[in-house]
Amino acid sequence: MSITLQCLIEAKRQGRLLTVLTAWDYAIAQLLDIAGVDIILVGDSLAMVALGHKTTLPLTLEEILHHGGAVRRGVKRAFLVCDLPFLSYQESISQAIHTAGRVLKETEVQAVKLEGGYPAVVETVAQLTAIGIPVMGHVGLTPQSVHRLGYRQQGQTETDAKRIISEAIALSEAGAFAVVLEHIPSNLAKIITNKLPIPTIGIGAGSDCDGQVLVTADLLGLSGKKPPFAKSYTNLRQIITEAVKEFSREVREGKFP
Ligand code: KIV
Repeated sequence: MSITLQCLIEAKRQGRLLTVLTAWDYAIAQLLDIAGVDIILVGDSLAMVALGHKTTLPLTLEEILHHGGAVRRGVKRAFLVCDLPFLSYQESISQAIHTAGRVLKETEVQAVKLEGGYPAVVETVAQLTAIGIPVMGHVGLTPQSVHRLGYRQQGQTETDAKRIISEAIALSEAGAFAVVLEHIPSNLAKIITNKLPIPTIGIGAGSDCDGQVLVTADLLGLSGKKPPFAKSYTNLRQIITEAVKEFSREVREGKFP
């Protein structure tokens, strides 16, 4: 049975924790889907993990459309969400509608995610949901603002914490179906989770969220450098390097084929 928007909203009511992982190509998407992840996110982190950029900022709309289509072809069951790249939605509501529309039409994902909870983004979320495009919000550390915020934990002062709570509430009231809480103190994530009727998806935000997301390259041990809050469940860098060395050795020694 495929996961619908309704299943995700119901999960919060039933206290069922949601699993969310990022994907950037067909093969990874297929494996995540077979393993039963609830939401697969074509995250703009693909700029770093798949394209070798230092930040998410250089990613273009054309690039995420290309990767989104590949991910779509690998997914049969999970609910599929795609990030809107930096500067593909912030200029105006009409730019956001045009971009989100292209993403839905050309990749057939079911929803988009955009970063921030300031008034213009909240208004954009309201307009997108009004025309039938499901939106996932993202507050706390927002990597598209790296040059302003860095990668440090957000919400440490009372003022900042209050602002993040208001942003999450505003996104929920504007119609977002879920909100990512990135790199904020766990007590703040708990307060937000208790206040919102929609699921909170944490990353570096403690265990009291309604679900957890990781960048799959971090989970698999593929990233050269991962954030302090990420957990690697295996070390594919090592496994792949050893397999490649073994292949090279066998070829050079005339043992393969
Ligand atoms: O792009 C991404 O991978 C993300 C997750 C960190 C939530 O936005």
